[in-house]
Order: sequence, then structure tokens, then C-alpha cells
Amino acid sequence: MSRPTGCPFDPPAEFTALRAEEPISRVRLWNGKLAWLVTRYDDVRAVLSDPRFSSDMSKPGFPSHSEGVAVTRTKHPTFLNMDDPEHAVHRRMLTRDFMIKRVEALRPRIQQHVDELLDQFTAGPQPADLVTGFALPVTSSVISELLGVPYEDHEFFQRQSGLLISGTVGPEEAMVAFDSVREYLRGLVERKAVEPAQDVISHLIEIERAGSITRDELLNMLSLLLRAGHETTANMIALGTLALLEHPAQLAALKADPSPTAVANAVEELLRYLTITHYGRRRVATEDVEIGGTLIRAGEGVVAANDSANRDPDAFPGNPDELDLGRAARHHLTFGYGVHQCLGQPLARVELQVVYPTLLRRLPELRVAVPVSELPFKTHMVFYGLFSMPVEW
Ligand code: HEM
Repeated sequence: MSRPTGCPFDPPAEFTALRAEEPISRVRLWNGKLAWLVTRYDDVRAVLSDPRFSSDMSKPGFPSHSEGVAVTRTKHPTFLNMDDPEHAVHRRMLTRDFMIKRVEALRPRIQQHVDELLDQFTAGPQPADLVTGFALPVTSSVISELLGVPYEDHEFFQRQSGLLISGTVGPEEAMVAFDSVREYLRGLVERKAVEPAQDVISHLIEIERAGSITRDELLNMLSLLLRAGHETTANMIALGTLALLEHPAQLAALKADPSPTAVANAVEELLRYLTITHYGRRRVATEDVEIGGTLIRAGEGVVAANDSANRDPDAFPGNPDELDLGRAARHHLTFGYGVHQCLGQPLARVELQVVYPTLLRRLPELRVAVPVSELPFKTHMVFYGLFSMPVEW
């Protein structure tokens, strides 16, 4: 399904009718296979919280996003594509590093990164690209510091990550990109094993020494964190800024009240409204399960469309197709739901809560330098966003 022409923030128009008339329907995937498409909020949550739906991409019937994504994630699985209890064992190794209290303590440091990168960005000529000049540097520098990856290498890992989440890259190219990141991380881990620091890599090396994970599992985990840790939030920075600029009344309200509560609320509404995780949460049934009155048989794939769920009027009263920064939206499904709900969400939230008000305060005249219709959107990437966004200020 394509996004409608006209508004780059809206999910496919078909979702409205499907939610009302056929909330669980059959869809044909890119590879010709059939899967169930689940579009209502309650049904999406029911799928994502039911252990009879598996995240294991190697299971027959799994509705993968593309061949490139399928091959890399099957060959080198991480807990993102494992089921409990194995999933929980691996995820628990990292909860300490991403817990709210720990991430909150990083807020001043994140503010410092944002201020310095904005200084560099605004020192250059105009127009300038907000994506490569600001959004990606912010998220890459923060995740690099947290993991213990040298930020100087950001161009390399940003490029490889981009290939890995492309919905159009073939399996060979995806594997080459994946292997190059793993080999890069392998060298880094070997160096950290000799010279440990206060970072996630050193923490994982301790866990490996205790015998709880293998070196391969450690590398896969790190590669997931590096990829998930910068690309997603960077898309939210650029697309969220565009959404604010395109909604002047909402923008004015946020400028008038940049209190922490108002900003936190605005971030949740932007996450809901934009749902950058627009390829749906993918699962395969391991037993026969009834969802919303429809029988899904063992072995059948399910696409739980969190972008549709986030526009469901039963969950978001009023007009969910409107951006309303005052809305209570924290129950959105942009970070998923259930056991796989995003591990990095505290970090993503703090980054966004720092970035938007800083941008608005320091660049009050910020504007897009080309017509919105000319901006290149990431329609076929696993995460929605912008490839580039020329701005002036
Ligand atoms: C706006 C930014 C972000 C969005 C929208 C987002 C979204 C998501 C979603 C939807 C899932 C669930 C996948 C599923 O159900 O199959 C997920 C999982 C995950 N995310 Fe994020 N994410 C973001 C930022 C981050 C950051 C900054 C990190 C930090 C490292 C991160 C790390 C992870 C990890 C490790 C998982 C796997 C969790 C599990 O399977 O238990 N994410 N994310």
C-alpha cells in the first residue's frame, strides 16, 4: 500500500476503511506470499502481547520485510528476533544500560552534544541538510558514546546501517554490509577487552567472560544497538521538525510553552502521528489463535500495523489524523508493545525532548528551503523519514 499523495505524514488511506470494515484482512507481500494485516489498536496490542506469535524470522511463514532484511536477521539473530525465554535472557543483559534512571542522568551530556553539533551546523553555509548535518550526528554521537564506539567512524556505520534497513537492497549486498559492521565491531571488542571503559561494549565483554553469551552473540547484539540506536531517532528528529514546521499553530503553541511537561507530551504526539516504524510489527503464529473474531492458523504470518493502530479513533479520540500536541498520546504503539517493546525508548525520548526545544529556541526562523513536495522521503525503508531536508534559518 502506498502513502497518499499530498500529506507525507499520513499512512496509507486504505487503513481507515479496513479498520471499520475488515480490521483483520489478507494481504499479499512483496514476495507474493499471503499474510494477515491487523489494523485496529486493540487487535495490534492483542497480537503483540500474545506469546503464540513468534518474532523468529527463520520460522516458515514469517512475513519478512524484504529479502535483504530476512537474510541478515536469520543468519545472525539477535533478541529482536528471538522468543521468550531466550529473548528475555538476552534482553535482561542490557536493561541496566538503557533504564530510565541511567538515561536521565545522561540528559545534560546529550544537551551538550546537541548544542555543540548545532553550533557546527549553523556555522556552515545555508541552505544546509538537517538530516546529515544535524539529526544523524546527534544520534550517532550519543549512541557511540554510550556503546563505546569511536564517533570518528560514524560515516562508515551510518552508510552500512542505511543499507541494512533498506527495503530494496538485495541479500548479497545486505550480507556484505552486515559482515563489514560485524568485523569492524570485532576489532573494537578485541581492543576493549584489553582496555575496558565505562561503556556498553565493556559491560557486554564482562557478560561474555561470565559465560552467558558467545562472542558471536555479543557482536550481533552490538550491531543491533548501533543500528537501532541512531537511524530511528534521527528519522524522528528530521521528520518531527518538518511536521512542526508544517503545523504553524502547533509550533507556536510549543514555542509559547516549552516546559518539560509540554515538550514530553509533544514528543509522544509526534511519535504517534508520524509512526516512523511504518512497516508494521511482523510475527508468525505458532498455534491457532483467534484475534478479534478471526482465526489465524499456526504457520500464518501477521503484520500488526502499528501505524494504523496509532490512527485508530477508538484509541485516540477526536481526530487522530490531526497533529495535536496537547493530546494524551503516550499509549501509542510506535515503540511496539509487549515483550519486544523498544529497549531504547528512554534514550530516544530524552534525545527528542532535548532536540526539538533546542532547535526551536536557537533557530526561531528555521524553515524548509525547498517545497515539501520535492523532499525525498524514505518510503521503502524499514523506518520512515527523510533522506535529506535542506533548511535555512
Ligand atoms: C524514535 C526512535 C525509536 C523507535 C521508533 C523505535 C522503535 C522500536 C520498535 C517498534 C521496536 C519493537 C520491534 C518489534 O516489536 O518487533 C523496537 C525494539 C528495539 N529497539 Fe527501538 N526504536 C527507537 C529507538 C531505539 C534506540 C535509541 C535504541 C537504542 C539502542 C533502540 C533499541 C532497540 C532494541 C534493542 C530493540 C529490541 C527489543 C526486543 O526485541 O526486546 N531503539 N524499537
